[in-house]
Amino acid sequence: MAKLAYLNGEILPVEKASVPVEDRGYQFGDAVYEFIQSFNGRLFCLEPHLDRLERSLAELDFPPVSRKTVRQGIEALFDRAKIKQAGIYIQISRGVQPREHAYADNLTPQIVMTIADLEGEIPAEYQKGIAVRTTQDYRWGRCDIKTVQLLPAALEKRRAMEEGLADTIFISPEGMVREATAANAFAVIDGRVLTHPLDEHILPGITRSVVLALCRELDLPHGEKYFTLEELYGADEAFLTATVLGILPVIRVDGHPIAGGVKGSKTHSLQEAFKQKVEQGG
Ligand SMILES: Cc1ncc(COP(=O)(O)O)c(C=O)c1O
Repeated sequence: MAKLAYLNGEILPVEKASVPVEDRGYQFGDAVYEFIQSFNGRLFCLEPHLDRLERSLAELDFPPVSRKTVRQGIEALFDRAKIKQAGIYIQISRGVQPREHAYADNLTPQIVMTIADLEGEIPAEYQKGIAVRTTQDYRWGRCDIKTVQLLPAALEKRRAMEEGLADTIFISPEGMVREATAANAFAVIDGRVLTHPLDEHILPGITRSVVLALCRELDLPHGEKYFTLEELYGADEAFLTATVLGILPVIRVDGHPIAGGVKGSKTHSLQEAFKQKVEQGG
């Protein structure tokens, strides 16, 4: 079947879906996005993704966008594409306007979606654990908003790949571990599963919150707490979380082996519990 896209209420082949060159998303990165995955033919955590999308829109003072319209668009595209393990990318730009930094009132947001088949997307060897590098965070100061301004993430993911690594983790100027290019970062330190608290320096990941809930269910000691790169080097275990990755063990950071270079037991328990949750539809 031809690859499909959604464009402002219409579903059409992706190559026929186009937006005007004066779209503010194209010229200023003035757009927000979401990425939702389905498992066994069911969309996982749809409502939390819509909540986050609404928050991103509100934080950037976008004109109103109906949650119902977006939900119906996602469901229509998903139904038409008939992909069991789908990744749906949703982008909403502020609208189209002759190029001018200050945005006009009453623009019409442009809603675009694409859908891809994610079956077998993550390389099998990643399940054993990945090696990552780190760099000082040079992204903007509102990483809690899911905007399409992703150049540092794109550059640092590419640099990681050029070095034969899977990803890059951003570190604060004070040496705190923030998150990876498109995933939240966790470490097990002194027996506790820790991740960066929610603030303007990290994305409030949906998978992150599922994992924290699983820690509660499994009675694993855990917390939202800052930790340093030095602490990560010495951690018992480490992993990344993201919609497209699930829970991915990290076994090497800047060349330092974590947990002797093998996946840890808490990471394994969380992966198993996550798999069950996904199979039950969230
Ligand atoms: C910077 C960043 N952090 C974290 C995440 C993980 O978020 P989620 O679990 O909602 O996919 C993403 C996902 O795209 C991201 O881009």
